[in-house]
Amino acid sequence: MKKIALFLASAVLAAAACSGPLSPQDKLTVNDKKINDLIAQMTLEEKVNMLHSKTNMSSAGVERLGIADMNYADGPFGIREEGQPNGFMSAGWTLDSATYFPTGSALAATWSEELAYKYGTGMGKEARLRGKDVILGPAVNIQRLPVGGRTYEYLSEDPILSAALALKYTKGCQDEGTAVCIKHFAVNNQETNRGSVDAQLDERTLREIYLKPFERAIIEGGAMSVMPAYNKVNGDYCSENEHLLNEILRGEWGFKGFTVSDWGGTHSTMGAMLHGLNVQMTGDNYLGQPVIDSIATGALTEDLVDEKVRQILRVRFAIQPVPADVANTVMTSQPESQQIAKEVAEKSIVLLKNQGILPIAKDVKKIAVIGQNAVLKTQSGGMGAGVKALYEVTPLEGICKRAGEGVEVTYAPGYKTISFRWGPAPATLAPLEARSNDEPADPKLVAEAVALTKDADLVIFFGGTNKSIETEGSDRKNIKLPCGQEELIQALYAANKNLATVLISGGPTDLQVLEPNSPAIVQGWWNGTEGGTALAEVLFGDIAPSGKLPFTFPVKLEDSPAYAMGNFPDPNGAGGDLFSLMFRPDVLKMSNEERQAFLASLPKPVSKYTERFYVGYRWYDTKEVKPMYAFGHGLSYVTFDYSDVKAQASKENVQVSLTVKNEGSMPADEVVQVYVARPESKVEWPAKELKAFQRVSLKAGELKKVTLNVPMKELRYWNEESNAWELEHGKLQVLVGSASDDIRLNTDVTI
Ligand code: BGC
Repeated sequence: MKKIALFLASAVLAAAACSGPLSPQDKLTVNDKKINDLIAQMTLEEKVNMLHSKTNMSSAGVERLGIADMNYADGPFGIREEGQPNGFMSAGWTLDSATYFPTGSALAATWSEELAYKYGTGMGKEARLRGKDVILGPAVNIQRLPVGGRTYEYLSEDPILSAALALKYTKGCQDEGTAVCIKHFAVNNQETNRGSVDAQLDERTLREIYLKPFERAIIEGGAMSVMPAYNKVNGDYCSENEHLLNEILRGEWGFKGFTVSDWGGTHSTMGAMLHGLNVQMTGDNYLGQPVIDSIATGALTEDLVDEKVRQILRVRFAIQPVPADVANTVMTSQPESQQIAKEVAEKSIVLLKNQGILPIAKDVKKIAVIGQNAVLKTQSGGMGAGVKALYEVTPLEGICKRAGEGVEVTYAPGYKTISFRWGPAPATLAPLEARSNDEPADPKLVAEAVALTKDADLVIFFGGTNKSIETEGSDRKNIKLPCGQEELIQALYAANKNLATVLISGGPTDLQVLEPNSPAIVQGWWNGTEGGTALAEVLFGDIAPSGKLPFTFPVKLEDSPAYAMGNFPDPNGAGGDLFSLMFRPDVLKMSNEERQAFLASLPKPVSKYTERFYVGYRWYDTKEVKPMYAFGHGLSYVTFDYSDVKAQASKENVQVSLTVKNEGSMPADEVVQVYVARPESKVEWPAKELKAFQRVSLKAGELKKVTLNVPMKELRYWNEESNAWELEHGKLQVLVGSASDDIRLNTDVTI
């Protein structure tokens, strides 16, 4: 054993000597000698004890050898409230209120790598205060379906944007001494039947779209742990998927850390042991005694256990355990993180449309705020990913505070939001059926709201969804504005034409009815602890809006790729919402055995990805389907002039330079987007693809030269015949713009 350890240590040193500094993943191996010595002192029982949960949010170390337990905390957008050791029920602590950061799609709407890094540092620091070693985040799955229940947690429909932000979040968090557990690996793009659905897709789509964010965070960011997803990919559960975990993650990407199954997502002893899982969360029925038994029969070897323990210990040694008398001595939420949350919120807000309504004019003296989303707190709900925030400024509070004296702000709910909370007993889960998005408007609430708008100088309507509608565990039925909001907006606009809408949601909504009834529309997200403050700053014009959509708003759901191709909902009828099924009255009455048999009798759910890499705008652009609001879209209170584009190819990259000018009279940020098209290509490509972006801050009237680099490796495609990345040489059209549908400049370059 000692010899092997020495060999490993010298191999690492040799690699460092030959090829310069260690890669972020290889850095994890620097303690391998010490680790191997420790493993040699451990009993089989102690080792196997590290391969499964100890409590709901920890896995064991070995106290006798001074190896601390590994403590996990849910992210991705705030350190989750402390739960009971055996589950998610609150532990009733008082110091565990954390900073509620804007959720994933809001972060992505900033298109800011700098902010993603800061966000990661905020998460990492607060995790340390709570004694946590690993945060269960970032969540970086591609937003494939507009109805996706976890769209709000995820970043974008685009792999390049998702990957850039995932990488920075990872670095920020790990620079603070907390490991990330990047999730959900991989192709976890729907909540419907997430525990059993088989995502079937081709290798090119897998590589170019769905794996990209993971790949960068792991290779360049050194992500220390990875959470295999609940679903299957091409026939095998992600927690025992040889291709994903052993061939790609460890083999090709050189991952040296450990994997943790999603909670309840481990499915067998042999599958998990042989095909890449390190830790079963939660339970020990697969990676506990059965491992010891399998070693006794010779079905598994102790060497394999040693290897898994080594991978866990690498992270244990890279992350300092927080001493028990230091952890949890101050409030989790810290002013520094609250400031980061505010900055992200300020830069995430997207002005979708503005016909002279915003910013709020100085002579507006009476504002009618309509819609329950103006007062709804969004920190919790949505099942897992919630935060017990220290405080949360709602939109109405933000508006009232900013409006100050001399401006009267009135409020009416306009509609009654549907809500339910996931609780400990099935009874508290009801009424799940109420999550249909089709409730009619309540005439009394509509009348009350309309009355309020009559003498208002400005009406601000707060529409959108909530965390009972967009939630982990199920997808939305449709993307319609819920709770009778469509009827309400028509009545409001008929009563008062000075109207702006703010959409509070994590994902896209169908705006066909709203659009003609609202001269200004803002996408306001679930925007964290300071969400209301940031929104008021934008509405009143203290800052110019600068967010850009990280996903497309289709005109209607049926336009979106997986729907248009008939891939979702599952055409074989297995698209039912498993959670709803589980709590159907007749199913609730079943015995455990009957329920198991019932669930086993359901058709095996499949999700075919025959739309391939035509995801999001790649689909709309190529098929010439006009969206309601395009990927990358977002207006400002100023306009920007783009000029002087140049593109130059070298061996390493294509360098694109241009000049952007703020033509307005206030400071503003613009997000410059570089897309490429390949009109003469022999290989099949989408009409265009994002390849680089940069957020640029410009003072009033300021002009800046902007340079962006597209790495040559990002221009490759996955060749399914040679099973390798390949570069197609030839002409590349470089398209520079302010949105995917607003290309301002273009030039050609040959690669
Ligand atoms: C979710 C994960 C989460 C875990 C622990 C699962 O249901 O899919 O994202 O980290 O629960 O809360």
